[in-house]
Order: sequence, then C-alpha cells, then structure tokens
Amino acid sequence: MTIWNLGSINIDIVYAVPHLPLPGETLAALSLTRGLGGKGANMSVAAARAAARVVHLGAVGEDGAWAVERMMEYGIDTRLITTVDGPTGHAIILVDRAGENSIVLHPGANHLISEDLMGQALSEADTGDYLLLQNETLLQREAVTMARDLGLKVAYAAAPFDAEAARGVMSHADLMVLNAVEMEQLRAASGQDLAAIGVETVIVTEGGSGGRIHRAENGWEPEHFAAPRVEAVDTTGAGDTFTGYLVAGLDRGLPLRQSVELAARAAALMVTRHGTADVIPDLKDVQATRFG
Ligand code: RIB
Ligand code: NA
Repeated sequence: MTIWNLGSINIDIVYAVPHLPLPGETLAALSLTRGLGGKGANMSVAAARAAARVVHLGAVGEDGAWAVERMMEYGIDTRLITTVDGPTGHAIILVDRAGENSIVLHPGANHLISEDLMGQALSEADTGDYLLLQNETLLQREAVTMARDLGLKVAYAAAPFDAEAARGVMSHADLMVLNAVEMEQLRAASGQDLAAIGVETVIVTEGGSGGRIHRAENGWEPEHFAAPRVEAVDTTGAGDTFTGYLVAGLDRGLPLRQSVELAARAAALMVTRHGTADVIPDLKDVQATRFG
C-alpha cells in the first residue's frame, strides 16, 4: 500500500557545540553542517528506507529545490511537493557532546501547503493506505477528516506537541506516537486517559529505555518494549526514524510488536550517527546490525 505523508520539509543547519548555550552566552561551534530535515521529511525518508511506497505532500521555497531532489533520490514520490513564495522551513539545531539537542524552527513554506492540493492528492489514495501526520504543518484536522471519509488509516506523531492539533486529530487516529515528554504534555492538555481519547493504539517512546505500547485491545495495559543499547552521539531524528519505520512495518502487514521492535532498532542505529534525514539507516543496515 502507500503512505501519504502530509509533512514538513526543513533545511537543517546543525551546529555541534561543547554544551547547549546558557542565556547571554556566546559559544563557538565545533562544526557546521547543512542537510535535509524536518520531522515530516525525516519520516518519509525513514519509511522509504524501510522499503515503503511514500508520497510526500509538502511545500518548499525556491531555496529548497535541492531538498526535494534529495527526497527523490531516497525513493520518495515528490510530485505533490509544491514550491511557494517564501523560505523553506529552517531548523537551527544545536547538538552537544552527549548527543542532546536544542532546536529552533522557522516553519516557512511548511505553513503554506495548499488545502486544495492536499484534497486532490488524498483523493488518489486507496482504502487501507496510511495517512501520516505530524505537527510541523497545518491542515491536520482537514486531512484527517478526508482520510476518514476515504477509508485511510491514520498515523499521527504528535511532535512537536501542539494541544490544538492533537485535539483535532487524535480521536480519529488509529495510531499515535509520542515521546515521554509529549505524553506528559498530552496528559496536561487533555486531562483525559488514553481510553477516553478514541485512538486505538498509542506508542510512547522513552529513548534508551525503549518505550510502551498502549492499546485498547489489551485494555490499555502498557506493554514494554526494549531499545537496543548503543553509544548515543546525536539523538536528532531518532524519533522520526522510529515513526517512519513503524508505519512502514504496519503498512507491509507486520504485526504491531514486530513493527515496533524493527522501529526501535532503526532508531537505535540512528542515534549513533550525526545528522538527520541524510543518515537514516536503510532496512539492510538495520537488519545487519548486531547490537551489543
Ligand atoms: O526531529 C528532528 C527534526 O526536527 C529536524 O530534522 C528539524 O528539522 C526539526 O524539524
Ligand atoms: Na542522529
């Protein structure tokens, strides 16, 4: 089947720093790199690397043509990415020696995706295809309404957390993926138990300790999953890699637990690499890696 990803595309400007700067501090970076990123693009790349068919719905500015070309090289269908007036989304990413990051985002073109185009695009989708959403674009609620009418499955990564978007989407989603911080934000914002939300499956990732699967089917009793042990150098994009692999696994019919375990291995490998979309491991690498 196909994964239709309504998602951000960013130019990632990455500074390696000795530590994350304090207020008022001027800090010399150890290195500077520029690459393809954005939670949306990262998920598309991850799903494509996991051998899924991916159509990306998005927008860039004139300065983002190379980013779209790169997505194409990774095997993503980019014909529904439009070029708009204004800058491509940008992310300034600081990564410290422990692999922790801070990110400043400018949404740019990601907030200029046309609703009409999205509608046209989704009308090409087949029943059983996946719609994938995150929170670095707008139009989540509109997309989810269409997806429901068309019989698509909806996977929603509530990142970065946005209470309003979450409210509009989560009760219509089949699958929601969040990290532990986003889960806390969700609890604070909604005041609801997972059972009351209406989503069937919620995966909460907890970095190096793996995470939890919560599903209606099992009475919301959390089921732990482990993460392979690795030396983290850069956690940026690991969550996106997890989600892309997870949805790709489900899309090709793997059971949930197996998809989650594959996703956890891909994410573990990702944190051993510096960078974002450009270093997302492919399926062969993930399968061949023996974790200690
Ligand atoms: O999750 C990592 C991503 O967050 C980066 O690629 C950056 O673009 C921001 O969107
Ligand atoms: Na990384």
